[in-house]
Amino acid sequence: MRSRIVALLILILTAVSGSAVARERLSFNQDWQMLKGDYSDETIADAGDELWTSVRLPHDWAISQGPQKGQGMKNYGHYLLQGTYWYRKTFELPAADKGKCVFVDFEGAMQDATIYLNGEQVGRWANGYASFRVDLTHELKCGQENELLVHLDLPKKFTRWYTGAGIYRNVWLVKTEPVHFANWGVYVTTPDVRDDYARVEIETAVDNDSKLSGKAQIEVSIVDQDGRVVAEGDVFASIRAGKTKTVSQKLKVTDPERWDINNPYLYDVVTKLKIDGKEVDEQTTPLGIRTLKFDADNGFFLNGRHVKIYGVCNHHDLGPLGTAFNLRAAERQLEILREMGCNAVRTSHNVPAPGLLDLCDKMGFLVMDELFDMWKLPKGEHNEGYTPKYWDDWWRKDVENFVKRDRNHPSVIMWSSGNEIPEQNQEDGAELCAAITQEFHKYDSTRPVTAGFNKNYKSVDNGLVDAVDIAGWNYGTKNGDWYNEFHNRPEYKDKPQIATETVSCHSSRGYYRFPYGEPHKKGPELQACSYVMVSPGYGYPGDMELMRQATSPSCMGEFIWTGFDYIGEPYPYAAQATLSYYGVIDLCGFPKDIFYDYQAAWRPEHDMVHILPHWTWPGREGKQTPIHVFTNGDEAELFVNGKSHGKRRKGEGNATIKDNSNQFKSLKEKPLAQYSNRMIWEDVTYEPGEVRVVAWKNGKKIAENTVHTAGEVAGLRVTADRAVIKADYEDLAFVTVDAVDAEGHFVPTFNEQLEFSIEGAGELVALGSGNPADFAAMQGTSSYNAFYGKCLAIVRGIDDKPGSITVRVKGKPGWQTLDDSDPSIQFSSEWKTWKGIAFNNTEHYADKKGTATFAFKGTRGQVYGFMRPNSGIIRVSVDGVHIKDIDCYSEKADLNALLFDTGDLSQRDHVIEVVVAGRKNELSTSAQVNLDKFSYYDPTATATFSAAVIKIKTQ
Ligand code: GAL
Repeated sequence: MRSRIVALLILILTAVSGSAVARERLSFNQDWQMLKGDYSDETIADAGDELWTSVRLPHDWAISQGPQKGQGMKNYGHYLLQGTYWYRKTFELPAADKGKCVFVDFEGAMQDATIYLNGEQVGRWANGYASFRVDLTHELKCGQENELLVHLDLPKKFTRWYTGAGIYRNVWLVKTEPVHFANWGVYVTTPDVRDDYARVEIETAVDNDSKLSGKAQIEVSIVDQDGRVVAEGDVFASIRAGKTKTVSQKLKVTDPERWDINNPYLYDVVTKLKIDGKEVDEQTTPLGIRTLKFDADNGFFLNGRHVKIYGVCNHHDLGPLGTAFNLRAAERQLEILREMGCNAVRTSHNVPAPGLLDLCDKMGFLVMDELFDMWKLPKGEHNEGYTPKYWDDWWRKDVENFVKRDRNHPSVIMWSSGNEIPEQNQEDGAELCAAITQEFHKYDSTRPVTAGFNKNYKSVDNGLVDAVDIAGWNYGTKNGDWYNEFHNRPEYKDKPQIATETVSCHSSRGYYRFPYGEPHKKGPELQACSYVMVSPGYGYPGDMELMRQATSPSCMGEFIWTGFDYIGEPYPYAAQATLSYYGVIDLCGFPKDIFYDYQAAWRPEHDMVHILPHWTWPGREGKQTPIHVFTNGDEAELFVNGKSHGKRRKGEGNATIKDNSNQFKSLKEKPLAQYSNRMIWEDVTYEPGEVRVVAWKNGKKIAENTVHTAGEVAGLRVTADRAVIKADYEDLAFVTVDAVDAEGHFVPTFNEQLEFSIEGAGELVALGSGNPADFAAMQGTSSYNAFYGKCLAIVRGIDDKPGSITVRVKGKPGWQTLDDSDPSIQFSSEWKTWKGIAFNNTEHYADKKGTATFAFKGTRGQVYGFMRPNSGIIRVSVDGVHIKDIDCYSEKADLNALLFDTGDLSQRDHVIEVVVAGRKNELSTSAQVNLDKFSYYDPTATATFSAAVIKIKTQ
């Protein structure tokens, strides 16, 4: 009887499979349409075709719209995420596919997705970061047109950063035979790894979606990078109709080559499913053979070797691309991190794109794979999404999908179940914590689970630390010598620990404020100082954590907040900025100064020395302008215009940070000089010319660096990260524009608008500069303002049309921009007293008055600045005629950016006068009005430099 069933099953399978390729996995990213609008399941059919826009996935709707200052949530970087989104796609599968199982795999859809096929609901997933599969088999009409419809719903307050909106990751169409490997059904582990052999266990789950029971053969082979089969075996299993069967196999690899961060060697585990000798399914799973040890005394060991974790936390957006996943953009991020010496990434605070983990496997990064930012209890007002609404029903499903999806990646060394979860504060918080840890272990027993605890003491007292395998600390160093303190507690002497999150310092690439160590003071520039010593109260300078890490052997290492700037969380300028200031690298991938502090610490063998600030300071002549140097040498000497300012030796004198930021004060200590890579020459007086630094290690010169005072901008230097890219929609070229003077020196003060044009076999995808306070849309535009000398263009090729792309960049002719340091803006002396002043609540400021006059020859003028609500009245006149009053009492809070635009004027000399006055009898708590910038359009003007061109080949 049994053999008859098997025979029947074979017949059916043979009849439907036909070809040798039983499983097909096809990109399903093309030919979608999307619509943002308040339609319900019933009314969406009435939305006219003209309302739908054609899109190609991955797609982030919100980034294409740009930030909407004052309208979107500040935490989302003012992008409008909230709303109902619909995506639809019509497709036809050949009649021959009848009888197959057909699935659509979503790598991530933001969020609360409901999926319909031909009008019937076929799937649903609440968590916008999760990958999930939808089974189309039963509603599919092969040989006819089908419509797939996806409904997404983003509430107003659901998360603490920019999530993007839409189907922002890849989508795949998967066709299998009725008997096939289950989704994420192959699980490969290496329970015993030695120098001469590795035991590899392969657990395989097979779904029998046919109506017949039968017997299947599962063949496994392990193939090395030269294509040699190094181990193989097979096993038979009977599978009942409609059931899933899991089988285990054990194989041995002799003399295995290890997966390591320096040599990320991957084998392929090829799994074949056969029925009566005929192959019906095949899957390939990467295998990295490595050992992990998490030691309470000595930290982390990879393949028996101690490895300190040099990690960064990153959010999932890819800068100007928004959250639309792109493999090359993610790879570039990892390349930049590698340059810094980073060896680990924490996927804060959500399920990452699968492509990121593939890259980490291939490039040798360690991953802390994190699932949640919140459990059941919301953080503040972020309470309208998954937490708390879906928590009870969904968290177990999310753990299952997450762990099953990611457990074969050798790069993933530990799981994190959450970040700063409010349950830390609850006496019974440990119960849920333990349940989640247990759920992780149900699907993977080979990796430990941690969580990022920011309440060090509470998480200990309430037992959450006991409910995870590794104690994870966010900002442990805010409590001084916390790692050693924890390790010295007898009850935790066997508990490994890691710094899940550290630092959170603010800085804007290229921006410096004097005096640099001042406690954080908001300024009209809306930027944070690149000496990088100021953070929110719970944070502290990175130097501090480097010192703690160097003196806490039990701590495995750290994950800095953050590697890259990201969209959203624009603190400390929440109302006036759109990007974060936390990154070691800016949004466009340009390193900030602090990058080199980490490079010095994390790449001791890479001889280097870096100087800050830049040395182009017209107006600072004769003023104290401290110079900081990061080096992995032990001595350095500074020369200004050839004159030595003396040698510093690490561990001596003022070779380290002065105790002058508010954070150092609150910590009552500063990094020990011998652990710092920062050397400081505090009393340097600015004079134009050249700053040179020479570094030595053990008496031998290892590196030198020179920074020049730049002259006027004379041109643009345009470079691309790669000269040749693939002629497809996915590969990208990252084109960097640097402003240079006549001698080719970088001009770090250039903030003008640039115009880009693309010809040939490519298109412009996005522009950016890394300026957190620039609200210009990064997509759908061909011009962008440079930020401290730099700008970025992201370009892609065209599907199957190889050729050459010409990227042309020029200054925007006609528009001239002057900032408040420019002498051509006439401020009355009284006005000067207004700049940056915050009046306190005892001051009656009705008598205060300031006037600024802008004289120009052109056809339009624009005044930029900002004022706090209740600051007074701005009265504008053009050529002596009163045009407008801007009343800070009635205008929106924190009105800033464009204060006044004259509109079209005739081409002649004009004068704009802006008078700011307080109101009589009014008191204010925070009156502040600043004029930052004035632009005017002169149609006869041309840019002072000619266009720069770069060609990129696509093939
Ligand atoms: C942490 C938090 C991060 C981010 C950071 C900003 O406390 O875990 O997600 O918000 O603060 O400093």
